[in-house]
Amino acid sequence: MRSYKAKMVEPIRLISREEREAALDEAGYNAFNLDARDVYIDLLTDSGTGTMSADQWAAMIRGDEAYAGSESFHRLADSVSDVMGFDYVIPTHQGRGAENVLYGTLLEEGDVVPNNSHFDTTRAHVVNQGAEPIDCPSPAARDPDSTDPFKGNFDLDAGWALVEEVGEDAIPVVVLTITNNSVAGQPVSMENIEAVAEFATEIDALFVIDACRFAENAHFIKEREPGYEDVSIADIAREQFAHADAITMSGKKDALVNIGGFAAMRDETLYEHAKQRAILYEGFPTYGGLSGRDIDAMAVGLREAVTPPYVEERVEQVAELGDLLSERDVPVYLPTGGHAVYLDASEIFPHIPKDQFPGQELVCALYLEGGVRGVELGGFAFPGTDRPDLVRLALPRRTYSYEHLEHIAETAASVLDNAEEYSGLEIVEEPPMKELRHFSAKLEPV
Ligand code: F0G
Repeated sequence: MRSYKAKMVEPIRLISREEREAALDEAGYNAFNLDARDVYIDLLTDSGTGTMSADQWAAMIRGDEAYAGSESFHRLADSVSDVMGFDYVIPTHQGRGAENVLYGTLLEEGDVVPNNSHFDTTRAHVVNQGAEPIDCPSPAARDPDSTDPFKGNFDLDAGWALVEEVGEDAIPVVVLTITNNSVAGQPVSMENIEAVAEFATEIDALFVIDACRFAENAHFIKEREPGYEDVSIADIAREQFAHADAITMSGKKDALVNIGGFAAMRDETLYEHAKQRAILYEGFPTYGGLSGRDIDAMAVGLREAVTPPYVEERVEQVAELGDLLSERDVPVYLPTGGHAVYLDASEIFPHIPKDQFPGQELVCALYLEGGVRGVELGGFAFPGTDRPDLVRLALPRRTYSYEHLEHIAETAASVLDNAEEYSGLEIVEEPPMKELRHFSAKLEPV
């Protein structure tokens, strides 16, 4: 079911196969270098790419552009308090701005930060403070056949092993990312959230939630965790945060906006410190790098995210795409996550060795076969790791229709049919920083 209809449309077009071949060649076989106008269905990210509601657009007209103390800021603070339960909020230009403000305030050289899995900008901000990010994913995450309902969980055994190794004084902050983007968008259970909060308390660390996809996580708790069937999404969302001291938020995900983010916290002293860093990097702490109208859109989007049936339909659409792909025997990571379907490139291209980037070849093949753009999150994006060669197809929120999903599934099926035609890629040009190579490197077919 879809409880919305289109009010405004944006044309998209599928250019010819010859034109796609030329565009991909020009882009150095890297989908980040493609012009969006040459992409038919864009699944590069679910970040900032969704469709805003009529209420959000209406709220933008109300935007108060005062430099300090705007009405827009107060409306956001009210939303954050109602939906998430935090008294103090600092708007930022997007999620990584919130990471800079919070981790720049909390971390020092030599600190160690455990997280179920760091998103890449989170990792970079921890490293930027001279601290060390450590991933503690659930062992179930590494098993593609595991049907564990909460594969996104934090592994507390790994957390305690880390405390043994580095000592609790080295760990000022424990982070939990809900849902777990680096582990195929898998959810974290309420039981795990509580256990991580206790762990943080025991080692006298602050407990921070990376809240980007908090509504999708709440949906999975309602669906899968005993005792939550009859609890509303709004109540589950608030309960998730009741255990946390602070959050970082990218509004481009579950606040349903094209740009924006914030940090929020309970402690006034932390707020006062973080505000100083916000002034330096983001702007005066009531606008944080955003226009008043962006802040108003975010204030409304946050409330919509926990108002039924938004998130149920959202996650259902992602599952629908997973089903359409599975029906065509395309290997997908199961269960499907909240914001994306992940394809297993090593199963689609068993003849392509890991050092010839089967995942990146799959991204290219999806574009060549049907103008679909996904993103590689395997050996190309994470050099030197043994991560599986997954390709993420992230669905923008409230944007594509069932016909689009069918086109995506048909495209993947034709890649599967023509798999032997694809032979792998080699890098011919790359930037100095290996960690960032997937954004700009150029490749060629081998
Ligand atoms: N944390 C998580 C879990 C994220 O997925 C992202 C962004 C951020 C933080 C940073 O937020 O982009 O607003 O600065 N993820 C996007 C993605 C870019 O495609 O997964 P941001």
